[in-house]
Amino acid sequence: MAVAGAAQAAAWNAEQVAAAFRSRFGTDPSWLVRSPGRVNLIGEHTDYNEGFVLPMAIDRAVWIALRARAGRDVVATSLDFAEEKAFSLDGLRREGRGWGEYLKGTAWALAEAGDRLAGWEGILAGDVPIGAGLSSSAALEMAAARAFAAVSGGPWDPVRMAKLARRAENEWVGVGCGIMDPLIIGVGRAGHATLIDCRSLEMRPVPLPQGTVVAVLDTSTRRELTGSAYNERRAQCEEAARALGVKSLRDVTPSALEARGEWLSDTLRRRARHIVTENARTVEAAEAMKAGDARRLGRLMNESHSSMRDDFEISTPMLDAMVECAQAAVGCDGARMTGGGFGGCVVALMDEAAAPAFLDAVGRSYSERTGLTPSLYLCRPEGGTSLAPLAGK
Ligand code: GLA
Repeated sequence: MAVAGAAQAAAWNAEQVAAAFRSRFGTDPSWLVRSPGRVNLIGEHTDYNEGFVLPMAIDRAVWIALRARAGRDVVATSLDFAEEKAFSLDGLRREGRGWGEYLKGTAWALAEAGDRLAGWEGILAGDVPIGAGLSSSAALEMAAARAFAAVSGGPWDPVRMAKLARRAENEWVGVGCGIMDPLIIGVGRAGHATLIDCRSLEMRPVPLPQGTVVAVLDTSTRRELTGSAYNERRAQCEEAARALGVKSLRDVTPSALEARGEWLSDTLRRRARHIVTENARTVEAAEAMKAGDARRLGRLMNESHSSMRDDFEISTPMLDAMVECAQAAVGCDGARMTGGGFGGCVVALMDEAAAPAFLDAVGRSYSERTGLTPSLYLCRPEGGTSLAPLAGK
């Protein structure tokens, strides 16, 4: 989920982060970690229901320039928050909800799994907008995991690390989120989204349909009470699964839900209907991508948004306004809110050639309708968390 705090990500790049390291620590960093944000094309709130998701890692990232440090301390400066934090790896303690907790939580999860940890010092920065539903926090956790693995010389297994990052988020940060975010951040592949079966963790990369691009349309509204609303949806899904006598909603088909719908209260029936239909849409979306069928993919994205708005009730008037502006704009195949909900971004698919006119039209119509200034940008599918080569070294 989102890193708590008000700072908005600036567009830092690798060179600037390395330069900030030199000015703070007086030498070159030994490593530069890049850990991308992600956008989910379709499959929302399905991951913790052991269902399907179709996200991609993007060309916006969290960076850490770092070197090993004698002893057991981690000393890190965030350029986005203009703040330095230091903590010892011995006797890790929770302190509030700032960005440092994501480093600590990751250290805690790695230590719990038996990994050997060593101290480091580093500079952190990123251009994943914070709290926008593009997974700035999982990007930070996976960046921290990569940094700890680099310093201790341990192996890098992105799937194992994604599970540990999820544990950090669930047990240290306290949000019951699923595996999607750290997993796609770990395994992302350039040019591709990845269909993930969140039960078996089977993954299939699927290319974007030729001639299409993905846009992220940031409403400039941020979610509030995220954790509690998210955890409440999760609890409702679990309650619906129990009432239907299944391990998780993954095990319910649309026709089974139709037949047994009256076993559930109206709210639980609608929550379950979103998950059950979203799983079916997500699998179909991957097939549409494989067939290069952008229209079909876009239609499924539109249906997904309606389901999140009406059945799962995680959209907001601003997200709905942005979706409607996008769906009405030239060249748009489809659009939906993306991420946990209650604010943040819409994802849209469109013809590459129409992208400039699309962004222009959506920017104007959204501002006229809401009085807000959105941030709109295209994003490319990129590779997952890595140790990037140092510029100029
Ligand atoms: C957040 C969580 C994910 C997932 C999405 C909704 O991003 O971190 O695990 O549940 O919300 O699809």
